[in-house]
Amino acid sequence: MQQLSNRHLLGIKDLTENDIQLILETADNFKEVINRPIKKVPSLRDVTIANIFFENSTRTKLSFELAQKRLSADIINFAASSSSVSKGETLIDTVNNILAMKVDMIVMRHPYAGAGIFLSKHINAQIINAGDGAHEHPTQALLDAFSIRQKYGDVAGKKVVIVGDILHSRVALSNILCLQKLGAEVMVCGPTTLMPRYIKELGVKVEHNLRKALNWCDVANMLRIQLERFEIKYFPSIREYSMMYGLNKQILDSLDKEITIMHPGPINRGVEITSDVADSKQSIILEQVENGVAVRMAVMYLLASQYPLV
Ligand code: CP
Repeated sequence: MQQLSNRHLLGIKDLTENDIQLILETADNFKEVINRPIKKVPSLRDVTIANIFFENSTRTKLSFELAQKRLSADIINFAASSSSVSKGETLIDTVNNILAMKVDMIVMRHPYAGAGIFLSKHINAQIINAGDGAHEHPTQALLDAFSIRQKYGDVAGKKVVIVGDILHSRVALSNILCLQKLGAEVMVCGPTTLMPRYIKELGVKVEHNLRKALNWCDVANMLRIQLERFEIKYFPSIREYSMMYGLNKQILDSLDKEITIMHPGPINRGVEITSDVADSKQSIILEQVENGVAVRMAVMYLLASQYPLV
C-alpha cells in the first residue's frame, strides 16, 4: 500500500507530488462511496478524532465532521468560544487534556499562522491543519485541485488565476503550492497593496488588470476580502475594490473563452463576485464543497491507516 511521506498534514509545502496524487486518487474512491445509497464505510471504526476550532468555520468544520462520520470514526467537537481557553488555558494544555481522553487525531483551525506546526512539536497525535491564520489551508487546496481535475481531467498544463486578497489568504498560498506541484501555471491578480512582498519568489505570474488575467486563464479562483485580518486600510472602499476586481456576468460573457469560476467560500455576493456569476453554469463552487468531503475522507484515511496512532 502506498504511503504519505508525512505523519501530519500541516501544509501543502510538506507534500510531494506523489502524496497529492495519492490523496486525489483515494478521494476518487471515496467520492464513489458517498454517492452510494449507503454512504458509510468502516475504515476508521476504532479511531477517535477531535475537531478543535479556534476560528469560525462552516464548510471546513462540517465537511471534516461528515467525512469522519462517513468513515465511522468517533468524533468530539471543540469550539474555543465555549471552552476553558477563555479562562487562560494554553493551547498545549488544552490539546493534551483532549488527548488524555484517548483521542488519536486532531483537526485544528487556528487564527495564528504556524499553530499546527507548533503543536506538532509538543503533542503525541496526528494533526491536520484546517486553516492556520494567513498561512495554509491544505485540504482546501486539495479539494480545489480535485475539482479542477474533475472538470478538465488533469491539473497539469491548466492556467489558474487566483484573484483578490492574496496577502491575507491561506487559500492562496496552499493553492499556489498545490497547483504548481501538479504542473499548473499560476497567476495572482489583485491590487498591489494586497500582494505579499515575496510573491514573485513563489514563481507565479502577477497581474493587476482583472480582464487581462481572466483572458489568460482556464480557471479563476475568486477570493474573499479578509476584512477580519486587516490592520490597516488596503484600498479606499469596498465599492472601489468591486469596480476594479469584482467579477460580474458582463465581464465573464465578454471574455475570449469560457472559463471556470471557483470560490473557496464564504462568498461576499456583490463584492468579489456577483450572484449571477456565482450561480452561473461556469461556476463549480458547490462541486468544490461536495468534493471537500471525499478529499478529507482520503486525507484522514491515509494518515490513520499508514502510521501507528498514539
Ligand atoms: N473555505 C473555508 O475554509 O470555509 P469556512 O471558513 O466556512 O470553513
